[in-house]
Amino acid sequence: MKSFIFFFFLGIHSAAAVTHSLKYFYTASSQVPNFPEFVVVGLVDEVQMYHYDSNTKRAVPKQDWLANNTDQQYWERENGNMLGAQQTYKGNIEIAKQRFNQTGGVHIFQNMYGCEWDDETDKVVKSYYQFGYDGEDFLSLDLQTETWTAPNTQAVITKNKWDSNKAKMAQDKNYFTQMCPEWLKKYVNHGRSSLMRTERPSVSLLQKTPSSAVSCHATGFYPNGAELLWRRDGEEVHEGVDKGEVLPNNDGSFQMSADLDLSSVPTEDWMKYECVFQLSGAEDLATKLEKTKIRSNTGSNLIMIALIIVAAVVLAVIAVIGFVLYKKRNAKRPPSPVENAEVQEQMMPKA
Ligand SMILES: *[C@@H]1O[C@H](CO)[C@@H](O)[C@H](O)[C@H]1NC(C)=O
Ligand SMILES: *[C@@H]1O[C@H](CO)[C@@H](O)[C@H](O)[C@H]1NC(C)=O
Repeated sequence: MKSFIFFFFLGIHSAAAVTHSLKYFYTASSQVPNFPEFVVVGLVDEVQMYHYDSNTKRAVPKQDWLANNTDQQYWERENGNMLGAQQTYKGNIEIAKQRFNQTGGVHIFQNMYGCEWDDETDKVVKSYYQFGYDGEDFLSLDLQTETWTAPNTQAVITKNKWDSNKAKMAQDKNYFTQMCPEWLKKYVNHGRSSLMRTERPSVSLLQKTPSSAVSCHATGFYPNGAELLWRRDGEEVHEGVDKGEVLPNNDGSFQMSADLDLSSVPTEDWMKYECVFQLSGAEDLATKLEKTKIRSNTGSNLIMIALIIVAAVVLAVIAVIGFVLYKKRNAKRPPSPVENAEVQEQMMPKA
């Protein structure tokens, strides 16, 4: 009970069991302009650490911790594997096109696989191995039943083939239950200082127009397992709240937002609300809803319009002065061949 009270008042979420993830995304495409035919990205805890594409034909680390803990052999092996996968996926996209009776055009064949591992129980909590074609589910492996699921008739041929391939099933099962968590543990260990850090975000209140919902936007936090919620008088509100997804930033941090519809809340009650950001292992970050703190485009829009008007007036004055000067100079100059009456008449708008 004591510890409960302690945590309650400090508002600290104990650093509970952490689930780590290792995921790979393979994307093969045909006729997509300015995009490599084959791209592979690898993520640990939603942070990209690996990249390969068919233009460079090189597998490269995207995080220092991976670069520092891998040798040349590792990358040579990866280059070889990826070059092989590139050929396979080039074939896969052709097979998928045939199954759908397609001859050309833009097509995408995707594969996502990986596992999630709980560092407290040391158990694999989830694994996935799924294929998609042109944005639709194509095939996915159900490890429990050791069967493939094919939502499309076009994938049934493959499903039957892979369901009866016991060697492949055993290999896949071994990967997802043994190798995947093993590699994940290795990577988490290498990247510990970076992956286990906590960074609190900057939180802003934003509103598009005076009648739209107030958006609480938190950006720059790490890791991604965060909560953003609205409270009224200390109680979480659910009605009128629209929570967004956690999205990655370019620098490896994350952002998210939670919109609150205040259309039926009288202005004097606004101060009862606060937006609360929660991250495991860090103190809650509460932002009171105050009208003066809300950032909006409408104010700056007015300034922008004023600036445009000023600029237009200045340009008009310059144009008039220029025209007067031109007329004056022109009067003193002898006519050049193009300045004959016929040409000028053609260029002038008809009255
Ligand atoms: C990786 O190695 C470089 C150069 O030796 C070093 O500056 C950097 O701090 C290392 N980073 C990590 C995350 O180990
Ligand atoms: C493709 O063409 C074959 C033969 O004409 C036909 O049986 C099949 O239904 C077609 N498949 C699709 C997805 O249109």
